[in-house]
Amino acid sequence: MSEEVTNNGLLHDDDPEWQDLKLPDLLLHNEVVRQVHATIEKEWDFLQRSACQTAAGRALWKHVIHDPLAYLLAGETYLRSLHEKMKKDRLNNASETSGVILAVRTLWFDSRLEDALNSPNGRQAQVVLLGAGMDTRAYRLSCLQESDVFEVDFPGVLQVKTTILEAAKESTNECEQILLKAKSLTRVAADIRENNWLEKLRSVGFLPHKNTIWILEGLLYYLSHSQAMQVLKILANKCCVTHTVLLADFMNKPSTTMSNSAFQFYSDWPDQLLPSIGFTHVRLSQIGDPDAHFGLLNDPLNLFNKLRSLPRSVEIHPDDGTPCCRLYLVEASGSPEQNTTPNGPMTLS
Ligand SMILES: C[S@@+](CC[C@H](N)C(=O)[O-])C[C@H]1O[C@@H](n2cnc3c(N)ncnc32)[C@H](O)[C@@H]1O
Repeated sequence: MSEEVTNNGLLHDDDPEWQDLKLPDLLLHNEVVRQVHATIEKEWDFLQRSACQTAAGRALWKHVIHDPLAYLLAGETYLRSLHEKMKKDRLNNASETSGVILAVRTLWFDSRLEDALNSPNGRQAQVVLLGAGMDTRAYRLSCLQESDVFEVDFPGVLQVKTTILEAAKESTNECEQILLKAKSLTRVAADIRENNWLEKLRSVGFLPHKNTIWILEGLLYYLSHSQAMQVLKILANKCCVTHTVLLADFMNKPSTTMSNSAFQFYSDWPDQLLPSIGFTHVRLSQIGDPDAHFGLLNDPLNLFNKLRSLPRSVEIHPDDGTPCCRLYLVEASGSPEQNTTPNGPMTLS
């Protein structure tokens, strides 16, 4: 991969996509798809729209992420907006390119999920995506072939997603890409700020005693502190019942205080927080670490290298006075056999 990409993670200049964004016919001409995206524009709030923004990232970093459905699910507005930013970064020879965090994050979750499924406790584990948005792992990753997958999100998001995928299925050109790779896929319409989402999950076949991998990608910082802690404690308590793996990204405090940001929950030290509520093993990476690099951050002056060389406790960069905005990629796990430490699971209050 690193031989094909430039220092800032993009393809070399002969890639024509940089001049013009080519949108799939289905997105441009299918009436159902067009109407659905018009509704998103008119009716969705920032929380729901974030699902399309991340899909746009996966679509436009297609030289490293194979997610052909991401174009359709993202929609023209978000694709054009990110494409413009990437073009500008390219023209300015920026040391890091817009969307690179999303690309690294996706690749990190993919690789940690695959490793978790290939581990002795992982075979046939069920996989739950909280705040699944426009995620298409159930269609992209063959490592899920023995796994029942559950996607949880707001009813409106899942309805739109289903409608777009159905329209794609009916189009002969796209139907190849809509083949499920997971053993099964169930969509669960729920608001995880409410306390009935686990019950809803159970009612459609989620098995509480079965080994489970929980994916919280791009979710926690949209919740308040108490809502995020409530969700994390529910998952930590699962460690007493069955082997449980959590894959999640956490913002640090400076990341959530960026202007115009709607972010709330942060944790500067998720590797201390998660053991305190009942997880036993925690592994933390930052963008740019050897397992969170994927050959996309080769410019020695890129922002992430600058951050990684500073202790995590530093919130303001000593060289330029800018806030040290970090995103932590965290894998945590626990199981009933391991849960005998004094730090064992906390009760929910
Ligand atoms: C930034 S997107 C990430 C989507 C997906 N995980 C990905 O990485 O592409 C955040 C998603 O979380 C969902 N979400 C946020 N708050 C939620 C809540 N309280 N209940 C259910 N879903 C929620 C949003 O609707 C959105 O789809």
